[in-house]
Amino acid sequence: MLLLSRSDIKKAITMREAIEANKKVFQLAVDDKIDSPLRTVMLAKDGNSTFIFMPAYSPDMDAAALKVINIFPQNIDKGLLSSPAQVMLIDGETGYVSALLDGATVTQIRTGASSGAAFDVLAKKDCRKGALIGTGGMAAMQLAGMVEARKLEEVKIFDMNEERCRKFIEVMQEELSEYGTKFIQAKDSDDCIEDADLIITVTPSPVPVFDGTKVKAGATISLVGAYEPHKRELDPAVLPRTSKIFCDLRDAALAETGDLIIPIADGIITEDDVLGSLGDVLKGTIAGRESDDEIIIYDTVGFAAMDLMAAKVIYDNAVKAGIGTTWE
Ligand SMILES: NC(=O)c1ccc[n+]([C@@H]2O[C@H](COP(=O)([O-])OP(=O)(O)OC[C@H]3O[C@@H](n4cnc5c(N)ncnc54)[C@H](O)[C@@H]3O)[C@@H](O)[C@H]2O)c1
Repeated sequence: MLLLSRSDIKKAITMREAIEANKKVFQLAVDDKIDSPLRTVMLAKDGNSTFIFMPAYSPDMDAAALKVINIFPQNIDKGLLSSPAQVMLIDGETGYVSALLDGATVTQIRTGASSGAAFDVLAKKDCRKGALIGTGGMAAMQLAGMVEARKLEEVKIFDMNEERCRKFIEVMQEELSEYGTKFIQAKDSDDCIEDADLIITVTPSPVPVFDGTKVKAGATISLVGAYEPHKRELDPAVLPRTSKIFCDLRDAALAETGDLIIPIADGIITEDDVLGSLGDVLKGTIAGRESDDEIIIYDTVGFAAMDLMAAKVIYDNAVKAGIGTTWE
């Protein structure tokens, strides 16, 4: 069994590879080629934190995986990750565990690559400005997915914690220097999104994190943070001007995120307005962007097969490159 740490994983996969891996798994998912029972969620004794067990099996990948991810929102104040995790990758031929991967890193990469894949597929070709709201544990890979998908001049970044935002920008300017994009701390969320072609929100907020009337025509918005029915980041004010809504997996998003559940309950949109999954667009069964003026929303809640696919690519690359520690 191979043990793959955070630094091993970062050496073993590029953001481009992660985006392409997501595109494949999104298509497998809409073709019903993934066996993925519902995740098991247990509430911790504080009544707020959760333990989550996410299994998936893909005969096409000849592998299965189980991710254990635990959401402890208060961790950020202790200088810890809010979503510590591990992914166990299992060989489809023998049932042996082939690798144990740092699941927080796998989650961050595959989720960043989810926004990256959505922008690749749904954003207009000529994008210059980006916006990122939220600079916690997931944010670095979101920014990486965004700049990988489109060549941007600048990305404005906002977090309600100014100091965290400042430090994040300092680190990311260095880490993503090869892209030549300028990262700027926004004064507030309006300043952040006003001029943006690409917008990502990645916060645990229960209320909208930006003013929907300020979104410019042609923008593509990736909503990442809200994975529970009572949480939302999207201001419904943008919905009347939105021409298309897609999800990573339509049924899962409709069941899980307040970004869709709340405006549907309020009668602002209907389920029919949620056109489909990104895999449908990739397969060509549903049209994606048809004009540069359309505002398009992408909602990603994540699903276990994304972890399986990312873990498989990371493991295969790591074996080829001799990365990781073998546990006999
Ligand atoms: N879609 C997916 O597949 C997926 C995967 C993993 C995590 N998530 C979710 O993404 C969200 C972010 O995760 P994380 O690990 O980065 O969280 P985190 O706690 O590490 O960071 C969240 C950041 O958001 C900021 N924030 C909160 N409310 C804000 C607001 N209204 N405006 C601006 N900034 C605000 C906080 O100050 C903090 O810096 C969580 O809700 C998590 O559950 C989604």
